[in-house]
Amino acid sequence: MYPFVSNLLLVNFAYSKLYSYLVKYPTPSNISIFWNFGFLSAFFLGVQIVTGFVLTMFYTPHVDYAFDSIQHVMRDVNYGWLIRYLHSNGASLFFAVVYIHILRGLYYGSYSHPRTVVWFTGVIIYILMMGTAFLGYVLPWGQMSYWAATVITNFVTVVPVVGKDLLYWIWGGYSINNATLNRFYSLHFILPFVIAVLSLYHLYILHQTGSSNPLGIKAKRLEKIPFYPYFVIKDLLGLLVVLIPYSLLVFFYPEMLGHSDNYIKANPLVTPPHIVPEWYFLPLYGILRSILDKTYGLVVMFVSMLCLFTLPYLDKSYIKNKTYKPLQRKLFWFFVLNFLYLGYLGSQTPTYPIIEIGLVCAHFHLLYFFLLIPVLSLVDRIFVDKRS
Ligand code: HEM
Repeated sequence: MYPFVSNLLLVNFAYSKLYSYLVKYPTPSNISIFWNFGFLSAFFLGVQIVTGFVLTMFYTPHVDYAFDSIQHVMRDVNYGWLIRYLHSNGASLFFAVVYIHILRGLYYGSYSHPRTVVWFTGVIIYILMMGTAFLGYVLPWGQMSYWAATVITNFVTVVPVVGKDLLYWIWGGYSINNATLNRFYSLHFILPFVIAVLSLYHLYILHQTGSSNPLGIKAKRLEKIPFYPYFVIKDLLGLLVVLIPYSLLVFFYPEMLGHSDNYIKANPLVTPPHIVPEWYFLPLYGILRSILDKTYGLVVMFVSMLCLFTLPYLDKSYIKNKTYKPLQRKLFWFFVLNFLYLGYLGSQTPTYPIIEIGLVCAHFHLLYFFLLIPVLSLVDRIFVDKRS
């Protein structure tokens, strides 16, 4: 009797949660298409988990077989090519929608109270996504996989005293070997589930306060409408639009975002002439490479990423929405262009003047967060926001 009752309670609990999240949830009626990207992120997370799970049924995490097992998926397994291309291009679309989701947060000040914890969980998710994507890129065991793993894991040698030991511990030996591939595979399998749990928490916390809106006016003073049917339809329409570039990539240009060197089996004796990461790492890679000192470069790169955590404390203005602040709005778009340009620089051979321009862009990125945002927000708080 007891298990039956508890199961019934569990079903009832799940049903009431789903009902309150997907049907009843009071949503500001004026949210724009930029509020679609949370749902789209969740969609691509689901795609990655499902397609990744199917790929694991054919993949062999061994240095002698990994490359061939991927070729087997592509050539012999029924629709194996489709599953693989959905997964590899799905990662790109996932990053694209999450980048827009983050930029929406930056523009409208979604990081501020009372959504600070939503923002923090988001930043943790973003960092975990980067880790997961890097680990996944190593698995096909092509030249780019192997050398990307070599470059990235070698970063830990900048840790004073124990750096070298840490590297051998991560490798599970004195070079990248079978143990390395195995642990990367295990982590690549488990991390998406950690991201999924964090995403649920992200949503749970958001639902405690409710979504913000493009006007930046406190939502209780706005008209709110139920999530179903209005935003279910709107989210599905957004999905339909995003499925167009996704299908174009998967069916017509599946290798456009990849690198041809990854169709050569990993060879520790031959370094590729030009090691480049996937496009979504390029801005950070651009920052790293523009600084010749390895330790300083790494510090600047990590600070450029982790500064997202400090944003709720750096922006002191009462009104964080940039729609009403012409100077901050222009600077925001300049920051976005600068970030994209860093991505371009990251894809180029590091020679003169790429490194020099990169240095300027990298420092502007930091300046934006640690000087322009705090100073301008303080000026706004004192002279502008009070009057509104
Ligand atoms: C797996 C990745 C993610 C998923 C599935 C996800 C999901 C969602 C969903 C469904 C919403 C509500 C709809 C919307 O506002 O778009 C939302 C809101 C939000 N997300 Fe995410 N998110 C993810 C990553 C991130 C990241 C990386 C950040 C920031 C660094 C972030 C910050 C926020 C914020 C601040 C809100 C509240 C927006 C507002 O109402 O102003 N999220 N997220």
